[in-house]
Amino acid sequence: MDLGLKDKIAVVGASSKGLGRAIALGLAHEGAKVTICARDSDALEETADEIRNQTGTEVLAVPTDVSQPAQVENLISTAIEHFGGIDILVNNAGGPRAGRFDDLEAQDYQDAVQLNLMSTINLCRAVVPTMQARGGGRIINLTSVSVKQPVDGLMLSNMARTGVIGFAKTLATELAPDKILVNNVCPGIIFTDRIRHLATVRAEEGGISFDAALANMTADIPLGRIGDPDEFATLVVFLASERASYITGTTIQVDGGMVKSLL
Ligand SMILES: NC(=O)c1ccc[n+]([C@@H]2O[C@H](COP(=O)([O-])OP(=O)(O)OC[C@H]3O[C@@H](n4cnc5c(N)ncnc54)[C@H](OP(=O)(O)O)[C@@H]3O)[C@@H](O)[C@H]2O)c1
Repeated sequence: MDLGLKDKIAVVGASSKGLGRAIALGLAHEGAKVTICARDSDALEETADEIRNQTGTEVLAVPTDVSQPAQVENLISTAIEHFGGIDILVNNAGGPRAGRFDDLEAQDYQDAVQLNLMSTINLCRAVVPTMQARGGGRIINLTSVSVKQPVDGLMLSNMARTGVIGFAKTLATELAPDKILVNNVCPGIIFTDRIRHLATVRAEEGGISFDAALANMTADIPLGRIGDPDEFATLVVFLASERASYITGTTIQVDGGMVKSLL
C-alpha cells in the first residue's frame, strides 16, 4: 500500500528516544521529512543522524522542552521556516511522575497538566494555521491506555491525559471542514526507557526484582508480551497517511488486548 507520505512534512514531539523516535523513523522510512525534538540536544542530534543514515530523508533537530510555551513556538516556527509548512503533527511528551494521591503535591498536578495537556494544546495552536493554509493535515496525540482504564499508581497520567481526549474530540469536529484529522493513540506497555523506569519503581516498592516487576506488568496482557515501539509506530504512521482519510475523532489503543473496556 502506498501511504502517500513521500515529501510530507512532519513534526514529532519528544522524539529522541522511545515511541517518538520510532514514529519519526517510521515516517522517515515512508519518505516524510521530519522535525524531531527533545530536551537533551546530544541525544537528539544522535537520533537525527541515525534517522538520516537509515532513511536518507531530511531531518531537522530542534532542542525543545514541550512543556514550555515559548519553546513550542520556537520549534514550530523553526520547522515552518525550514520546510515551508507542516502536514503532520504528532503530539508527545515525557510521562508524568508515578504516584498515588498521598504521594503528590498540588504542584505535581499543575506540572502534569503543563507537560501532558498544555503541550498538546500549545503545539496545536502553533501548527493549525499552517495546516489550514495548506488545505489539510493530520494531528495525532500520544496518550496512554489510562484514558480508557485508569492505571493504579499513575494518578497524574490518569488525570491529565483524559483532558487531551476531550480537547482532541472537540478539535476533530471543529477542524473537519479544514480537512485536518485529529486522533488519539494509546500505548499499553511498549518496551522503552519509560517502561524500564516504571518497572524499577514497582520493583523497589514491592521489594521484588526488576524481572519480576516486568513479569507482573505482562500478566494482564492477553497477547502475553510487552509491545515493541515499531508495533506502536505503525499505527501512528498509518493515521498520519493519506490512506487514513476517513478516520477522525477516534482513540485507539495498541496494548496487546490489555484494556478490558468495550470501547
Ligand atoms: N512506553 C509505554 O509503554 C507507554 C505507555 C503509556 C504511556 N506512555 C507515554 O508515552 C510517552 C512517550 O513514552 P516513551 O515510552 O517513549 O518514553 P521514553 O522512552 O522515556 O522517551 C521519552 C522521550 O521524550 C523526551 N522528552 C521527555 N520530556 C520532554 C519534554 N518536556 N519536552 C520534550 N521532550 C521530552 C525524552 O528526551 P529528553 O529527556 O531529552 O527530553 C525522550 O526522547 C510518555 O508520555 C509516556 O508516559 C508510554
